[in-house]
Amino acid sequence: DWNMGAYREEMIEKIRAQVGDKQVICGLSGGVDSSVTAILLHEAIGDQLTCVFVDHGLLRLNEAEEVVKMFRESYNLKLIAADEKDLFLNALEGVSDPEVKRKTIGKLFIDVFQKYADQIEGAQFLAQGTLYPDVIESVSFSGGPSVTIKSHHNVGGLPEKMGLKLVEPLRELFKDEVRALGHELGLPASFIGRHPFPGPGLAIRCPGEITREKLAILQKADAVYIDQIRKHGLYDDIWQAFAAILPMKTVGVMGDGRTYDFAVALRAVTSVDGMTADTYPFSHDFLSETMTRIINEVKGVNRVFYDVTSKPPGTIEME
Ligand code: XMP
Repeated sequence: DWNMGAYREEMIEKIRAQVGDKQVICGLSGGVDSSVTAILLHEAIGDQLTCVFVDHGLLRLNEAEEVVKMFRESYNLKLIAADEKDLFLNALEGVSDPEVKRKTIGKLFIDVFQKYADQIEGAQFLAQGTLYPDVIESVSFSGGPSVTIKSHHNVGGLPEKMGLKLVEPLRELFKDEVRALGHELGLPASFIGRHPFPGPGLAIRCPGEITREKLAILQKADAVYIDQIRKHGLYDDIWQAFAAILPMKTVGVMGDGRTYDFAVALRAVTSVDGMTADTYPFSHDFLSETMTRIINEVKGVNRVFYDVTSKPPGTIEME
């Protein structure tokens, strides 16, 4: 794309002019915005950039490994992969209130980010994937009135506290343009087209108390579900799809025996901006095949629901 090629060059010059020979840190979430920001910065200033990727233990199956591998191998950027699973999961033990979950995760995220950022000597800038719509409005969601869609990753208030200046190369762009820029920068199409993923991650897809056992089941069920959607060529028709694990066990039968296992809920919606959403109309065959696969492939699940609730009255996430 000619326009994006020109924009890329222009941004690289601007970043170099702003940053000079100083060090920059960038929080990498694995989402499109922070990824494009990091790659653009890396092209502009190379090893003056250090990225920090925090694994809070609430990511999708193999996601942390895949993101880290891609950035280390394909882009060769300086990346601190912070394994903080225990810190987050221990803090979340016994927590079932959705707001408390979000606050716990948000606060720890800032602490952890600051801890790693402090180790980068001479850092004077913080790079963020702020988009134009984030600049003109701060959107908050019904699931979490105090948390905006970005607040988990853009470590609000931290730049001032740490005395860092902001670098925000995507400030003039809309989401579609960021995707085009990502394409221009060589990000794989499958990565650019990924469904949105919330900062608190699987925590809000595990209503009630979070346990390591439930998270492991949820990750596997979600992976099978998304695999089904991709195999049936439906991924790009859906705005967001995921599995959730319900806070209950139910009775089932398997062979001659009785089972007493978790129930999984599948969600898939179409939407323009996430503010309203419609349920995706899967065929009965698709749902039935997916149910069979999940129960056969994921130990600990004996029942599958499909969530038919639109937004409103439901939210997209479970919490
Ligand atoms: P809801 O559940 O409010 O979700 O209908 C609308 C969109 O926002 C995402 N979402 C979040 N993203 N932190 C985030 O970064 C959050 O706390 C949060 N809550 C919801 C959700 O995935 C959907 O795309």
